[in-house]
Amino acid sequence: LKPIKVGVLGLGTVGGGTVNILKRNAAEIARRAGREIIITRASARDLQKPRICDTQDIQLTTDPLDIINDPDIDIIVETIGGAGTVKDMILTAIANGKHIVTANKSLIATHGNEIFAKASEQGVIVAFEAAVAGGIPIIKAIREGLSGNQIQWVAGIINGTGNFILTEMRDKGRDFADVLAEAQALGYAEADPTFDVEGIDAGHKLTILASIAFGIPLQFEKVYTEGITEIARIDVEYAEQLGYRIKHLGIARKTAEGIELRVHPTLIPERRLIANVNGVMNAVLVKGDAVGATLYYGAGAGAEPTGSSVVADVIDVVRALTSDPENRVPHLAFRADALADIPV
Ligand code: NDP
Ligand code: HSE
Repeated sequence: LKPIKVGVLGLGTVGGGTVNILKRNAAEIARRAGREIIITRASARDLQKPRICDTQDIQLTTDPLDIINDPDIDIIVETIGGAGTVKDMILTAIANGKHIVTANKSLIATHGNEIFAKASEQGVIVAFEAAVAGGIPIIKAIREGLSGNQIQWVAGIINGTGNFILTEMRDKGRDFADVLAEAQALGYAEADPTFDVEGIDAGHKLTILASIAFGIPLQFEKVYTEGITEIARIDVEYAEQLGYRIKHLGIARKTAEGIELRVHPTLIPERRLIANVNGVMNAVLVKGDAVGATLYYGAGAGAEPTGSSVVADVIDVVRALTSDPENRVPHLAFRADALADIPV
């Protein structure tokens, strides 16, 4: 079998982490995927910028369309971010028959319905494990591991930057702005960090989780979002004195009236596991009717944790390419039997 050729759009935190993993673990990845996977092309805005990855043997360009329009590329890994021009890039790539792996929750939450419809028409896969909870394989856990369940609720800490801020404020008495600046320097924050601290990023992720869990189309506009910007050190201290921790949660719950979607700060008793999820770590609780409550924990952001999810999706796509297209596990956010009539 010929090697699969990957083009990476964006060589920042996630793109760089992805390149590092695909190169370092190439032999194991090839064994697991059943094919050699090579990154032949990559794009970034500034080709002189120092990178966290080795770009030797990779043809670089400043124009993502060079890669999207390259007939030799099989899979596009999108790690640019944002839902503006990137949407057009992804639709062009799909029209060109490329399979897509993306870490972009903003794109999936706001344009996923259209993107998946186009991908379905073209018979290509759009995979997005890295879009939710960084290195935790939560999409696969819900879609595949819990596929025999009726999901009752999903709740979790799904923004690493926000959790890092709340943890540092509590443990070290640091100021909000100071910790946010550190999260940006560490590459955890979104290009626009208000997405992290105002709950928009968590709202995007919750939209995707709810779609997978309940089989509904993506409906970001229905999410109630409240950020953590009003939380001061004194609030964190008072919560502590009363035996609670403040955590910024995303909650999706099936009720008699429909699906409830909300992101807001929450007081959690300190003895609870989720109250002890600190720093950039994320944790997602999923309750199914058969399995009961399950908990998934791991790094919610960062180069290689997120790259780990991107690479797993690349391997998944490669495996799917060797299977019968009629019998592939769908990579849609919502299932083909979407229960579109559930109110949200
Ligand atoms: P970075 O800012 O680190 O990297 C973005 C990359 O895209 C850079 O290489 C940049 O080029 C390039 N780029 C930016 N704008 C454009 C543009 N308009 N046209 C072409 N190229 C562009 O972002 P991250 O790696 O942090 O995030 C990428 C995606 O992954 C986002 O969707 C984010 O939400 C998501 N994500 C991020 C996580 C994290 O921990 N950081 C975790 C999970 C998901 P240059 O380097 O030259 O500036
Ligand atoms: N900015 C995001 C976060 C990146 O801090 O969780 C991971 O999606």
